Amino acid sequence: MKILHIDSSIMGDASISRQLSAEIVKQLQQKHGADINIEHLDLAQQQIPHLSSEILMGQNAEQSALGEQLIQQYLDADVVVVGAAMYNFGLASTLKAWIDRISVAGRTFKYTEQGPVGLAGEKKVYIASSRGGVYGENSPVDYQEGFLKAVFNFTGVNDIEIIRAEGVNMGPDMKAQALASAQSRIQAI
Ligand SMILES: Cc1cc2nc3c(=O)[nH]c(=O)nc-3n(C[C@H](O)[C@H](O)[C@H](O)COP(=O)(O)O)c2cc1C
Repeated sequence: MKILHIDSSIMGDASISRQLSAEIVKQLQQKHGADINIEHLDLAQQQIPHLSSEILMGQNAEQSALGEQLIQQYLDADVVVVGAAMYNFGLASTLKAWIDRISVAGRTFKYTEQGPVGLAGEKKVYIASSRGGVYGENSPVDYQEGFLKAVFNFTGVNDIEIIRAEGVNMGPDMKAQALASAQSRIQAI
């Protein structure tokens, strides 16, 4: 089993989404034993350049190679674990930069006369979501979880599990409760 583990929080060891994504990967390791291959993309440490017209037009060989590598890595993964902090109602821009590089027509989706079709195949996605306030499901100002789900759905992935810690900036009790609730979900994987 191939796991693609992505982190995007800028908070290093203090990051909750990083803590949760690592715990999800650990849980999967315990469940599936030695038969596991993990690739870790730390988007805060190794930032992917924003999509530009030069990159889009294939005029930068180095970036074309990186884009191809990222697409293949995504296609090859059986499981994707994404640590997603909420920043300004959305995602870290580094995670958006990754999305812009893997959302490529003819590779991860295609348009047909019936509409778009995802090409990323069978995969499971775990989203380790962390946010300072409380939004629940489907909040009109949540451009973090809903956006990520839409992107994965668009590439054909529908098996998405969100492990959420929210209200983490609303005092120590709320933070502890949010973490415990997320961790009990992880234990149930
Ligand atoms: C730059 C920045 C922007 C943030 N924007 C929001 C926000 O819009 N809504 C919210 O509820 N929390 C917001 N927060 C709080 C984070 O979502 C919260 O601290 C979360 O734990 C971040 O994930 P991390 O711990 O993995 O870094 C923001 C934090 C930072 C640093």
